Amino acid sequence: MTKAVFPVDFLWGAATAAYQVEGAWAEDGKGESIWDRFAHTPGNILNGDSGDVASDHFHRWQEDISLMKSIGLKGYRLSLSWPRILPNGRGAVNQKGLDFYSRLIDSLLEAGITPMVTLFHWDLPQALQDEGGFAARSTGEAFVEYADVATRFLGDRVKHWITHNEPSVFAYVGHSIGHHAPGLKDPYCALRVAHHLLLSHGWSVPVIRANSPAAKVGIAVNVNYNQPASPSSYDYKVWQHRFGMWSRWFLDPLYGRQYPPDLVEFAIKTHQLPAAGLDFVHAGDFEAIETPTDFLGVNYYTRQLSRDHSVPAEQNLPPTVFQAPKNDHDWQEMEDWEAYPDGLFNVLTWLNFEYQPASMYVTENGASWSDGPDESGRLKDTRRISFLQRHFEAAHRAIQLGVPLKGYLVWSLMDNLEWGHGFSQRFGLIWVDFKNGQRILKDSALWYKDVIAGNAIPILPSDT
Ligand code: FCB
Repeated sequence: MTKAVFPVDFLWGAATAAYQVEGAWAEDGKGESIWDRFAHTPGNILNGDSGDVASDHFHRWQEDISLMKSIGLKGYRLSLSWPRILPNGRGAVNQKGLDFYSRLIDSLLEAGITPMVTLFHWDLPQALQDEGGFAARSTGEAFVEYADVATRFLGDRVKHWITHNEPSVFAYVGHSIGHHAPGLKDPYCALRVAHHLLLSHGWSVPVIRANSPAAKVGIAVNVNYNQPASPSSYDYKVWQHRFGMWSRWFLDPLYGRQYPPDLVEFAIKTHQLPAAGLDFVHAGDFEAIETPTDFLGVNYYTRQLSRDHSVPAEQNLPPTVFQAPKNDHDWQEMEDWEAYPDGLFNVLTWLNFEYQPASMYVTENGASWSDGPDESGRLKDTRRISFLQRHFEAAHRAIQLGVPLKGYLVWSLMDNLEWGHGFSQRFGLIWVDFKNGQRILKDSALWYKDVIAGNAIPILPSDT
């Protein structure tokens, strides 16, 4: 069988985030996070689920590392819980929290697994939210203090640091759409949050480098593939603004271009910004934000189409771009998440041409399908295998074209709490019984093991 071989040292791994897997929400001195508060407020998370216990990784981390080892993972992307380390967001350090991560990282290294550590995957200390959260510039300063504490303690062993995960989702879904913590619905606040996230990223890069001189530092953005549904000027404008606000708004300042003028104009027109425009930007901010990084993390899940629904259909052009029919192979269980591997290829090549990052990792890609174990205890998640096969193939094509992709971290290592969707969405390579914490390797994990061992994927007849 023909194979597509990946570069030597390609970092095949899997990813998780603290709030989604750890549990132990109030153990060993951990402070409250905005996700604890949000989940404990009825109506915010499906079925009243919460991360109180989650996948119980805080107690089962040794078993989880053994499972990672049995899959042969070369890398593991995890996030640190900021309130586990600084319960009030700044000031007093909770040594027990640092010790937990220290043990985890030592054991990963002993198992031959490279840790990639995200500092902020959305679980902001509630104490900082009480002072305005990331809408306040001072929270950006607190982030730098936290980054300093964490990297001073772990920076001798961790060589891959990610400052923030998906700043657009944290800013918009948490502060404008309101579906994530802290649950606000204020578009101007969301843009302030976005700015302070970017700023705190830039401020922290030299601090991390000083504490962890051998490390590579980056940020993880989510870029889904977005297309106008037709070639009409209406759909084009919707696409330009939507895709722009979710991607260029973040990437342009990171890569030295400041906020895009067309989007600033759009944000003022739609009252997301006051008439004065970017009143939260201070002198020197952009210089900090564009501090060079070593890699860009890319989280990719799906394709979206932009259609201007404000004009009557008869005044618009008919759609010319169509998504797959709603069969269960091409659509994840996450509503409206199409499985669209070419989108990953398009996003990686676009990012490479447009911004020329020094290197890139797919820091998240995966699919939610809730297949459970059969009577024999086996879990045949064939749709996930096909999904990963097709997305790995798209990544391979991008590498062939010169995209400097250094690794692929599948979301997720194990089933976990999918934010507002609770436990209803299962993304794991490892199945978790949320009643008793029991774990089972899914068939996709066994398939992934072979991919990693051979550093290659088979080329299927349909790909040729
Ligand atoms: C991303 C998040 C990650 C996970 C996946 C499905 O937006 O970064 O934590 O929930 O979606």
